Amino acid sequence: MTSFLPPAERIWWNEPVGRQELIWIGIALTWCLIMFAMMPIWHVYGKQNLSTEAYQTTPAAYGARVQEMIDKYTVREEAGIPVVHPPAGSDVYMLGRLWQWWPILELEKDKSYRFHLSSMDYQHGFSLQPVNINLQVVPGYEMVINMTPDQAGEYGVVCNEYCGIGHHTMVGKIYVEDK
Ligand code: CUA
Repeated sequence: MTSFLPPAERIWWNEPVGRQELIWIGIALTWCLIMFAMMPIWHVYGKQNLSTEAYQTTPAAYGARVQEMIDKYTVREEAGIPVVHPPAGSDVYMLGRLWQWWPILELEKDKSYRFHLSSMDYQHGFSLQPVNINLQVVPGYEMVINMTPDQAGEYGVVCNEYCGIGHHTMVGKIYVEDK
């Protein structure tokens, strides 16, 4: 029997369902339900799916708040990019734009931050390495993530959403200090 041919019985929907087909439906349905259950489970126990909040904003409004933090807490510069050390527990900001993650943040280990993220122009992809945390960064929306870095070191931010000719140069940095 093949599905390329018309059914032998015209009233095919009254035919009994084949055993193999029933098994396949059963397997597929079971797998669907497992995946469905995994969504909330992975959200709670997984290490990558973050609980983000999203707010509407504008590039101008968001840019102004990033600049405010930079003006207050810049401690040095690296290749023309300010390195900002905001107080532990505060709101920290990063923006994506062609083709930069701005500024470089310096955070403290085991301190909680409200990390804000938005784009100044197009869609970018925030990818934190090596921990592989990925977030979409979209202009007009501000994402807020409550985070507590638990390992000191230097983290790289790469853009993983193609955004034009300089996409591959769009790299940033977050330092986590052990104090
Ligand atoms: Cu920004 Cu690719």
